[in-house]
Amino acid sequence: MNRSISVIGLGYVGLPLAILADQKNYHVIGIDTDPKKIALLNKKLSPFHDKKISKDLKTSGIIASQDYNNIQKSSIIIICVPTPVNDDHTPNLSPVINACKSLAPFLQKGQLIILESTVNPGVSEDIVLPILEKISGLKCGPDFSLAHCPERINPGDKKWTVENIPRVIGATDETGLKRAAEFYRSIIKGEIKEMKTIKEAEAVKVVENSFRDINIAFVNELAMSFDNLGIDVVNVINGAATKPFAFMAHYPGCGVGGHCIPVDPYYLIEYARKHGFQNDFLLMARNVNNKMPKYTADKVSDELNQKKIAINGTKVAVLGLSYKSNVGDDRESPSYKIIQNLEKLGAEVASFDSYIPDKSSASTLEDAINGAKAVVIATCHKEFRKLTPEYLRSSGIEVVVDGRNCLSKEIFSSSGIIYKGIGQ
Ligand SMILES: NC(=O)c1ccc[n+]([C@@H]2O[C@H](COP(=O)([O-])OP(=O)(O)OC[C@H]3O[C@@H](n4cnc5c(N)ncnc54)[C@H](O)[C@@H]3O)[C@@H](O)[C@H]2O)c1
Repeated sequence: MNRSISVIGLGYVGLPLAILADQKNYHVIGIDTDPKKIALLNKKLSPFHDKKISKDLKTSGIIASQDYNNIQKSSIIIICVPTPVNDDHTPNLSPVINACKSLAPFLQKGQLIILESTVNPGVSEDIVLPILEKISGLKCGPDFSLAHCPERINPGDKKWTVENIPRVIGATDETGLKRAAEFYRSIIKGEIKEMKTIKEAEAVKVVENSFRDINIAFVNELAMSFDNLGIDVVNVINGAATKPFAFMAHYPGCGVGGHCIPVDPYYLIEYARKHGFQNDFLLMARNVNNKMPKYTADKVSDELNQKKIAINGTKVAVLGLSYKSNVGDDRESPSYKIIQNLEKLGAEVASFDSYIPDKSSASTLEDAINGAKAVVIATCHKEFRKLTPEYLRSSGIEVVVDGRNCLSKEIFSSSGIIYKGIGQ
């Protein structure tokens, strides 16, 4: 077997995969359109903050390039480019289409193409396959194979990694399915489940992320309602979670971010809409979760009001710009929407995130808090968990809105600071 592979798109998904394949003795070519990323990778430097990737890159033999010509000797080509949404929430498949258009002229007989990017059912067969066939002049089946293996990586997760998360695979034919399964079994320790069709494999990933979006929307709605009712929703969820079956704890927060959960449901919604079906449930979940940044900003205003402080002209510190704790990825981050809503209310916002210093308005945590009357914890980074009522009080803070419920409300009870979590 030719152990040469190409990975197209060297981001949060493609780079860990390329590193893993390299460690499993594949000869790996990495292709990306971003020249800065290519330059960093060829100096064995990580383009994003990740300790393990930075360490693993030092000993990797990956050859990174912008030139698709280099894919010709690979037996397998894996596409890991982004699949964002447009401003109107419709799927933006242009990175996938562009990657296919760029690779097709170099496609060789016998190659296996695997799409790892998250897509709605139908994209592999209705978009990827026709582009590859038309430009290459080759035929899917006799000449090359096409498979889909959606990535499930959870950046920052030390337990579940690219190496041990089980995977599902679908392909346009049995040969492609068996070859793709053999490849993943050679690098991944988790189960590799072969799906009956490529559409089923595509649907698995969007269903998984829609499941999370819906469950988070449910607890977010409960949080807003229980806040009115004076019931602590986190305590309720923890109580319900003692049931050993048929309940799965999800927790409320100031908004859903990242490249997956707030994006992928729209791929399914749009695909179903084009085929004459409206996903009311998915749309409702998206709408509830999209409301959370405004709800959080309004909470700051309401609680400042309790202290007889007008939000207009008051400094508010927003802590955390990334969409989740201890990573530097701010795609679709609710923090920016919280900031916009606070500014609409007249607040003077200072933001700080040590993982994203170039987009933080303050250069240190102290600078962000200094002179502020309210603090919003928008991301639960390690350093923010250490904030004490004493420190905040001595800095003049009157209100803390904990968008991730990551501080203990009890320790604030006699501090003089109003502490509000989401639903607590
Ligand atoms: N980030 C996650 O946690 C995660 C988890 C599971 C699945 N996914 C899915 O994986 C896919 C990739 O996501 P990501 O987070 O790695 O994105 P990313 O933005 O981190 O990386 C994508 C890379 O592709 C490159 N690229 C864009 N267009 C290209 C082209 N035409 N040719 C070559 N390179 C190109 C970009 O420069 C970038 O380096 C998406 O479909 C996403 O939904 C992401």
